[in-house]
Amino acid sequence: MSTETKNDVGTTGLLGWIDARFPLTKTWREQWGDYYAPKNFNFWYYFGSLALLVLILQIVTGIFLTMNYKPSAEGAFASVEYIMRDVNWGWLIRYMHSTGASAFFIVVYLHMFRGLMYGSYKNPRELLWIFGMLIYLCLMAEAFMGYLLPWGNMSYWGAQVITNLFGAIPYVGTSLVEWIRGDYFISDITLNRFFALHVIALPLALVFLVVAHLLALHEVGSNNPDGIEIKKNKGPDGKPLDGIPSHPYYSVKDFMGFVFFAMIFAGIVLFEPTVGNLFLEKANFDPADRLQTPDEIAPVWYFTPYYAILRAVPNKLLGVVLMGVAVMIFFLLPWLDRAKVKSIRYRGWLYKGFLGSFVISFIALGYIGMHKPTPVLTIESRIFSIIYFAFFLLMPWYTNVDKTKPVPDRVTFHAH
Ligand code: HEM
Repeated sequence: MSTETKNDVGTTGLLGWIDARFPLTKTWREQWGDYYAPKNFNFWYYFGSLALLVLILQIVTGIFLTMNYKPSAEGAFASVEYIMRDVNWGWLIRYMHSTGASAFFIVVYLHMFRGLMYGSYKNPRELLWIFGMLIYLCLMAEAFMGYLLPWGNMSYWGAQVITNLFGAIPYVGTSLVEWIRGDYFISDITLNRFFALHVIALPLALVFLVVAHLLALHEVGSNNPDGIEIKKNKGPDGKPLDGIPSHPYYSVKDFMGFVFFAMIFAGIVLFEPTVGNLFLEKANFDPADRLQTPDEIAPVWYFTPYYAILRAVPNKLLGVVLMGVAVMIFFLLPWLDRAKVKSIRYRGWLYKGFLGSFVISFIALGYIGMHKPTPVLTIESRIFSIIYFAFFLLMPWYTNVDKTKPVPDRVTFHAH
C-alpha cells in the first residue's frame, strides 16, 4: 500500500499519507522537534512562548466577545454590559481579554528587556529584531483601537486626545485627523473603522509578523544568556555541542511557564481584574459623553512612559515627534550597539549602568504618565526623558569604550 512506503521523513500510516502530500512532519522537525536551542536558557527565555500563548488567548476570547458585541455608538456600551451580565460566562471572557491586553505588554516588555540584556538584536539577528519591533508597533495600534470599543468615557476621550496629536503635524495635520476619525470628532464612524482594524486587519498582520519572527529566529538560531553562537561548536553529527532539541526539553520548560502564568492570570481575572485602575480605568465604567471629560485623561499603563515624554515637552509638535522617536529608536539598536560582546555577563560597567538607568527612567516615566502633571513631576519627566534618550544616543560611544570581559568558547551551564 502506498501509505506503507517510506517517504522522505520516514513516517507511515495516516501521517505518512499526509507527509507525502504536505510538509507536516518536516515543518514540525525543522521549526521545533529538531531545532537545536542552547542548553543554557534561563528564566528570561519563558517570555517568547508566553507571548505566543497570550496572542492565541486574545484571538480566541476576542472571537467570543465579537459574537455579542455591537460596534455602534448607540449599542457598544450596552452590549459590553450585556456580555458582563447576561451572556453565559461573558464576564470571564471579557475579563480574560482585558487582562490579556495588559499581560501581553508585560510579557513583551520582559521579552524585549531580555533582548537588551543579552544583545539578542546584534548580528545576525537584526531582522528578527525588526520583525519584533513591527510586532510591537502593531500591538500598540491593536491595544489603542481595542480600547475605544467599549465606548466608555475614557475610551472616548483617550481616542480624542491621541488622534488630536496628529493635528500637530504642519499643513496636513487637520485633514489627517479628520481622515483618521472619518468625522470631525470621534464618532460612530470612528468606532466602526477601529472595530474593523481591531478584529481583522491588525490581528492578521500580527499573526503574519509572528510567523516571520519565528522563521527568522529558526534560520539564525537562538541567542542565549552567554551571547555565544552555539553553531560555532558542532559535534561529529553536525549538531551544536551546546544545543539540545527543543522537543521535549523546551516543550516541557515552556509548559511549566504556561502553568505559572495561568495561575497568576487566573488570580487577576478572578479576584482583581481592574488591578486598582491599572488594567481597566474607573472612567471607563461610565458611557462615552461628548460633553464631559473624565477628571484626568490618561492612557492605560503600557503607554504612559511615552505619554510622559509627550507631556515633558512644552511644544506640541516637538512633543509628538519626540514621543514617536522614543518608540522608533528601538529599531536602530543593532546599529547603535558597537560592543564586541553580546551578553551583559561580559560587558563592562558602562553598559550595565546605562541599561539600569534606562530601565529606571522607563518605569519612572510610566509612573509620571499616570498622574496629573505638577511642576515637580514635569521637571522629573524631563530628567527621565533625557536619561531615556541618552541610553540610545550615547550607545555608539559607551559600547565602544566599555571594558568587556573575554567570552568563553562554550556556554556556561550548571545542571541542577
Ligand atoms: C506577539 C509578540 C511576540 C511573540 C509571540 C514572540 C515570540 C518569540 C519566541 C517564541 C521566541 C523564542 C523564545 C524566546 O527566545 O523567548 C522569540 C525570540 C526573540 N524575540 Fe520575540 N516575540 C514577540 C515579540 C517580540 C518583540 C516585540 C521583540 C523586540 C522588539 C522580540 C524580539 C525577539 C528576539 C531578539 C528574540 C531572540 C532572542 C534570543 O534568542 O536571545 N520579540 N520571540
